[in-house]
Amino acid sequence: MPIPDQIIQEIKYRNDIEQIISPYVNLKRRGKNLVGLCPFHNEKTPSFTVYPESGSFYCFGCGVGGDIFSFVSLAENLDYVESIKLLAERSGVALPQDGYDDSMQRLKNTVYEINRETARFYHEYLMSPEGKWALDYLTGRGLTLATIRHFGLGAAPDGWNSLTDHLHQKGFSDADMMQANVIAKGNRGGYYDRFRRRVMFPIINIRGKVIGFSGRKMPNDDSPTGKYVNTSDTPVYKKSENLFAMNFAKTHCEERIILVEGNMDVISLHQAGFENAVAALGTSFTPEQAKLLTRYTKEIVLMLDADAAGQKAMRRAGEILKDTGLNVRVVVIPDGKDPDEFIRKNGAARFGALLEGSVSEIEYKLLHAADGIETESDDGKLKYLSAAAEILAESNDDLERDLYIGRLCGEFGVSRTALETKIRQIRAEQYKRRQKKEIAQIISPHYTKDDVNPERRNSIKGTEAEETLIAILFQHPDLIASASQALLPEQMITGLNRRIYSILLQCYNEGRELDISYFGQHLNPKQIGYLVSLQHSEKGAKNAPIVLKDCIRVILEEGTALSSSRTGELSTEEWAENMKQMIENKKRGMY
Ligand code: UTP
Ligand code: MN
Repeated sequence: MPIPDQIIQEIKYRNDIEQIISPYVNLKRRGKNLVGLCPFHNEKTPSFTVYPESGSFYCFGCGVGGDIFSFVSLAENLDYVESIKLLAERSGVALPQDGYDDSMQRLKNTVYEINRETARFYHEYLMSPEGKWALDYLTGRGLTLATIRHFGLGAAPDGWNSLTDHLHQKGFSDADMMQANVIAKGNRGGYYDRFRRRVMFPIINIRGKVIGFSGRKMPNDDSPTGKYVNTSDTPVYKKSENLFAMNFAKTHCEERIILVEGNMDVISLHQAGFENAVAALGTSFTPEQAKLLTRYTKEIVLMLDADAAGQKAMRRAGEILKDTGLNVRVVVIPDGKDPDEFIRKNGAARFGALLEGSVSEIEYKLLHAADGIETESDDGKLKYLSAAAEILAESNDDLERDLYIGRLCGEFGVSRTALETKIRQIRAEQYKRRQKKEIAQIISPHYTKDDVNPERRNSIKGTEAEETLIAILFQHPDLIASASQALLPEQMITGLNRRIYSILLQCYNEGRELDISYFGQHLNPKQIGYLVSLQHSEKGAKNAPIVLKDCIRVILEEGTALSSSRTGELSTEEWAENMKQMIENKKRGMY
């Protein structure tokens, strides 16, 4: 049962969208609206817009949008109904009891409970006499009991059903344990423990809940399984969005965070007093993880093994961190050791010194650009300077570029203008390459990935007419009656707009006021974003009744043309032609 409309309206009335959003986004007034940096993707210039008049928001950068409920559900990772519940609670509005579907939230809660129980089970086993083999291993690696407890480390017994049996006893079902990814299904249909005879590291989110596990096998275990087995994504865990030990690091990292490769490295560093260390969870560093870091720190120190893999990881992470505004520094661990080995051998003080000697990312690259070049000869100098110019050209920070240009000129005795000209040329080429790539992407027939309405490619003209129609009806609800006579939902060309239009008509037929909130339960955040952007677009701002008629005509014509074309699909050439036309139109400001 959906939550009654009056209650939704009551909650909206009591919760000002500006007040809801401002704890998350630093909003600045721009005319009637407010703008700020989008909390849902990385950006430097604000494209996140709040429309207080209609109680909605939209990000022109990433396309998400919606009302207060969509915002809270995105920001707090709740489903839509849960976010209604939360805002109702906060503003003292009573909801009808349990009549609506919150099955997803119930599943999440169950998975959290299973994780907590599992972590407890592994920890108790580790501390029991049977778990001595694992405790010996951990203490043998220099971990104290206090550290083991602090991180809630544990061990998975050797059997196939230890955890499964335990969780059954606690009343959990196989289906829910599968959802938590702590058990697996065998060929013959039975279930068995996913982690066996492994040291277990619980993964804990920033709110202190166990969301998954990472299990390391024993050195003498030669079964053909990975060194680490990790929880796959579950309803409460996405490894690309979490960092190991972020729950502890978040209160020690205002100045900087140290990013290392492994869980063991993190634990060693915390034990030695560096509680601002985190690790990516068995993946390479992701943009989502970068986004998480920007919320807590100003600077990130990449702590890398000196091998080729470490350097590759650095380049990738550097690339991702480039647009976050975070200061990036690099430390290379000498002798190919990892941080764990280094600190155990050399102690915390030497590790601290290593940290102090971190260099900026650009400096690190400049240092390595000299690898294998004989910089004594003129030829070598030239080679090095070209490589250095390529590196400096990548920086978008004018001051930083300037600083290093000055340094290189002094070092190599070349004129500043020469080096600056070279760098400017490279930047121009880089820019052209990027633009070419963007255009190629748009022209490509596969360019549907980021489009909320991927069916657009079937009829660009038709889709635009649909969009204008929806914009007009939102802005002039008095025209809905005549539109509903002339155009049936099934006559809309694209599935998404068909859905929007039919919800819109339903809303009208039920005599409700047209409101974004009515769509929140039926569309995903990008789809609602699309709708909010239409609601506030200029489309059809003038001569609405006439433009509306024209839109309906185009939709009907295009629909007929599409269904009579044999394949129902445009050829690549036709499509590219349409696309080019659209780009032309856009240039001329036609839409
Ligand atoms: P390493 O192989 O460097 O392990 O992998 P480590 O952290 O130094 O562990 P110890 O010191 O040998 O015990 C680095 C990280 O890569 C991920 C894990 O997160 C690990 O901490 N990894 C590695 C996996 O997810 N799966 C693997 O099979 C190996
Ligand atoms: Mn290691």
